[in-house]
Amino acid sequence: MKRFVFLLLSGSLLIAWQAGKSPHYELSASNELTRPDPSVYRKWQYIGSSVVPNEMNSGKAIFPGIHHVYVDPDSYRAHRDKGAWPDGTIVIMEVQHIQEKETVGGFGYFTTGAMDILVQLKDRRVFPGNGWSYYLYRDKDIKAGKTVAAPEDARCTSCHQSAAEEDELFKQYYPELRKP
Ligand code: HEC
Repeated sequence: MKRFVFLLLSGSLLIAWQAGKSPHYELSASNELTRPDPSVYRKWQYIGSSVVPNEMNSGKAIFPGIHHVYVDPDSYRAHRDKGAWPDGTIVIMEVQHIQEKETVGGFGYFTTGAMDILVQLKDRRVFPGNGWSYYLYRDKDIKAGKTVAAPEDARCTSCHQSAAEEDELFKQYYPELRKP
C-alpha cells in the first residue's frame, strides 16, 4: 500500500514536471500565476535596482518608483554557468512607490509602503516565442486580496522584445549580470 502511494506520488510529480512546472512558482492549468510572496523572493538572487520617478517623465512614468529585481537562485546559477536563461526561470521586479521627502539624511525619494509586483517567467514548453509570460499585481489589487493573475498581453512583451539586451531581460541595467 505504501509503495503504491509512493508510486502514485512520484507519478504525479513527474506529470507536474512535464507540464512545465517550476519549483519557484505555481501556474494553474489556464496559466494563471499565484502571486509571488515577497518574504520568499526577497531571499532570491538580487540583481539590481533603478529609480524611475514621475518627475523625470512628464508626470507619468509607466511604473513610477524604486525597482528592485530578483531572480530565482537555480536559474541565476544556470545562467551564470551556461549563459542562458533556462525554462523555469522567474524574474520579479518589485516596484516600491515613492514620495519626495526630507529626512535627517537629506532630501530624497522614500518608500510609501505601497508596491506593485511585476513578473516574467520563462517556459518554452508552455508559452510561444522565446517562452516568456508576463504578470502584473498592482498595489490596489494586492490590497484587495488578489492572489492570482492571468498572463498580460503583448504590451509587456513587445517592449521587452524590442529593447532588452538579452532574451527579453534588461541585462544592461543589472550590475550582478554584468560582472566580468
Ligand atoms: C515601454 C517598455 C516597457 C514595458 C511596456 C514594460 N516593461 Fe518591463 N521593463 C522595462 C525596462 C526598461 C526594464 C528595466 C529595469 C527597470 O525599469 O528598472 C524592465 C524590467 C522588467 C522586469 C525585470 C526583469 C527585466 O526584464 O529586466 C520585469 C519582471 C518586467 N519589466 C515586467 C514587465 C511587465 C509585467 C510588463 C507589463 C505589465 C512590463 N514589464 C512592461 C521596460 C518595459
